[in-house]
Amino acid sequence: MRKRNYLLSLLALLTLFTLLLAGCGGKKEAAQNQSTEKIVAKFSHVTAPGTPKGLAAQKFADLVKERTNGRVEIQVFPSSQLYGDKDEFEALQANNVQFIAPSAGKLISFDQRFQIGDMPFLFKDNQGAARFWDSEAGKKLLRSLESQGMIGLTAWPNGMRQFMNSKKELKTPEDFKGLKFRIPAGGVLVDIFQALGAGTANIPFSEVYTALQQKVVDGTIATFDNIEHEKYDEVLKYLTVANVNNLSYIVIANKQFWDSLPPDIRETVEQCLKEATEYERQLADQLDQESLAKLKQKIKVHELTPEERQAFVEAMQPVWAKYEPVIGKELFEEAKKLNQ
Ligand code: LMR
Repeated sequence: MRKRNYLLSLLALLTLFTLLLAGCGGKKEAAQNQSTEKIVAKFSHVTAPGTPKGLAAQKFADLVKERTNGRVEIQVFPSSQLYGDKDEFEALQANNVQFIAPSAGKLISFDQRFQIGDMPFLFKDNQGAARFWDSEAGKKLLRSLESQGMIGLTAWPNGMRQFMNSKKELKTPEDFKGLKFRIPAGGVLVDIFQALGAGTANIPFSEVYTALQQKVVDGTIATFDNIEHEKYDEVLKYLTVANVNNLSYIVIANKQFWDSLPPDIRETVEQCLKEATEYERQLADQLDQESLAKLKQKIKVHELTPEERQAFVEAMQPVWAKYEPVIGKELFEEAKKLNQ
């Protein structure tokens, strides 16, 4: 009897062991399936392929393809081909596209504080902007998008924004009176022009050239790089180098997509983004200066003297007074500290 019990226990143990082994095998197989499944993601943006953003997005895609041995494919759609300013956020939140890289100010409807990028005479240059976005305060701001189904990954500065128009040389704040400018998003930019006595129209990036050509607006505010790629010099005669504010892009992913990536893959993709970011930051200044040199051959370029610039700095005081409480003193102080 004892022997029989012993044999029965042994049999039960063996059965359990076999079942366990089968279970492990099943799990392993599932993991293997998961690890070979191809992942396709779309990266949509609004600028030309040859801009710092266009080149960096492609670099990111190439690096990801190479490092994951083709397991992850990022398809890049430049020039508002897939989605433009009007619908890219909706598309991202719906996971119809997995990456976008809008200018920080376009995030105004999600969080007013992203307008810090548009603040006049706060950021000195691309490096100062990068220092801010890389700081703890900047990263915290990027992370705040998570509650809205998006994840802010990094910032790609493009350049400083300049004034351009079709009517006259702009050297003093008074010269702006009565003119109308295209802006990419409301808030700070509306108030910058209001402080100069000028009006604004919110126009998506892909429609700016036509709006300028058809004289819906008299001018725009843009970086040398975008002016050149979008050929604004064909329809606008005067460029004022004022380095008003900084155009930085926030690279944003759909949070659900990002979280669903297997951890090892996500780590690789993150590393590729880090390298693409270094590439973008090295390239931006160089391309911006090359664009300026080309523009100087074609249109009238006026660089504000330090005294002329000071008059604009003073004219912007109401904008600072209005937005410091909106954006928050803490972020302002950090940006100022990193841009001395
Ligand atoms: C603009 O709309 O002027 C820019 O934000 C476009 C861009 O992405 O450079």
